[in-house]
Amino acid sequence: MPSAVITLAHPFDFAGWRAATRDLAGRHVPPDAITWQVAAPGETPPAPVPGENCQPFSIPREMMQMAADVLQSMLPDRFALAYGLIYAHVTGTPPDATALERINEAADTVRTETRHLRQNLFTLMKHEGEDAGWSGTLDSGTYAPESNARFITYQLSLAPWRLVLPEREICWNGTNLLHGPHGAPAPLSFGCLPPPALPLVTDLDIERITSLRAVALAAKTCLICPMARQATQTVFGEGQPGARMMFVGEQPGDREDLAGRPFVGPAGQLFDRALEEAEIRREDTYVTNTVKHFKFQRRGTRRIHEKAGRDEIRACAPWLAAERRILRPQVLVMLGATAASALLGRAVTIGRERSRPIGLDDGTTGVVTVHPSFLLRLPDEASRAREYARFVADLRLAASHVMPAGT
Ligand code: URA
Repeated sequence: MPSAVITLAHPFDFAGWRAATRDLAGRHVPPDAITWQVAAPGETPPAPVPGENCQPFSIPREMMQMAADVLQSMLPDRFALAYGLIYAHVTGTPPDATALERINEAADTVRTETRHLRQNLFTLMKHEGEDAGWSGTLDSGTYAPESNARFITYQLSLAPWRLVLPEREICWNGTNLLHGPHGAPAPLSFGCLPPPALPLVTDLDIERITSLRAVALAAKTCLICPMARQATQTVFGEGQPGARMMFVGEQPGDREDLAGRPFVGPAGQLFDRALEEAEIRREDTYVTNTVKHFKFQRRGTRRIHEKAGRDEIRACAPWLAAERRILRPQVLVMLGATAASALLGRAVTIGRERSRPIGLDDGTTGVVTVHPSFLLRLPDEASRAREYARFVADLRLAASHVMPAGT
C-alpha cells in the first residue's frame, strides 16, 4: 500500500524528483510504497515535507545521469523506474533486471533523440539565421527538447526561439523560458530541467573554439559516442601550439587511456625511438589520434584493443578537424590506415600511398606511413629491422617538407 504520494511540477521535473528521492531513498522507502504523479497544468504541487531519520547518501555521477536520462523518456512509470535504480544502490539490493533493461533502453532512445535534435537544430538555425531568432517544428517522442532548452538558449542562440512539439511547445522569448500547450506556454525555470543526456559539446561548439587548450578541455566532457562512456578518459592530442609537424595515430591504447596522453605505451616508445633517429624532437611536434577514446573488449581483467569503427571515427572527426584548423601544421603525418582514411576521406592502402608527399586541401603536405604498432606485430627480426628503417625514412621525408623557421 503506497505510503507516499509525490506530486511533481511537470512531466520532466528532475529537481522535484531528485529532492523527493533524496528524502525517500534516504529513509529506505521501497519503490512500491510510492505513488508518483504530475500536477495538473497551472496547479502548484505541495511543498515536500522531509521525513525523519533520513540518511544522506551519495550516488555515482553516471547513475544519476542515467536517472536523469530516463526522466526525459515518456514512459508512464519513468519516475518509479529512476527511483528504483537509486533505491537499489542506496540499500545495496540488486536492481530489478527487467527494470534495468527498460532503463537502458529508454536512456538510449533519449540519447539518440538528443543527437538528432541537435543536428536538426543546426540545420534550422543555419537556414533561418541565428541572430534574427527562429522557430521550428519537431516530432519528438521524449522530453529531450525540454532538457536541451538551456543548451539551445545559451550555447547556440541567445535570440528568441520557439519549438513546436507534439501537444506542447517550448520557447525562449529573450528573457524567459516558456513551456506548455500550443499557444499557451507558461514560464518554466531552467533549474527544474533534467540535465541533457549528452554533454554540451557539438560540432558547432567545436568549430568556434580557437585555442588548442580550450579544445582539449572541451573534449574532456565529450560523450558523443558510446566509447566515451567505456574509456577512462579522453586522450587528446598534445604538443607545441606552434608545431609545424602533426602526427595522427589511430586511437589511444590501454596505457594511453590510463595515462591520458597519446603514444606513451609500447607503440609510443617505438615511435619515440624512430623520431629520435629521424632527428625530430617530439616536443617540437603535435601528436594526436584520429579517435580520442580507447575502444576495447573486456576479457577477464584484460582490455583488448578493438579497431575504431566508422561511427566512432565520424563522431571524433570534429575534434581532429579542430586540431588541424587551430594548429595549421605544415606537415601532417598519417600513422596507419585509420588516420590516412580519415584524413584523406577515402579508403587507403598504405603500401600504395606511403613515402611520398601528398598535397592536402588546406595547403598542408601529407605523408602516409605505417602505424608503429604494425612494426611491433612483425614476426621476425629481419622484417622488423627493414620496416623500421622504412618508417624512419618516412619520418625524415616528412621532416624535409617543413620550411625552415622564418621562411
Ligand atoms: N596507438 C595509437 O594509434 N595511438 C596511441 O596513442 C597509442 C597507440
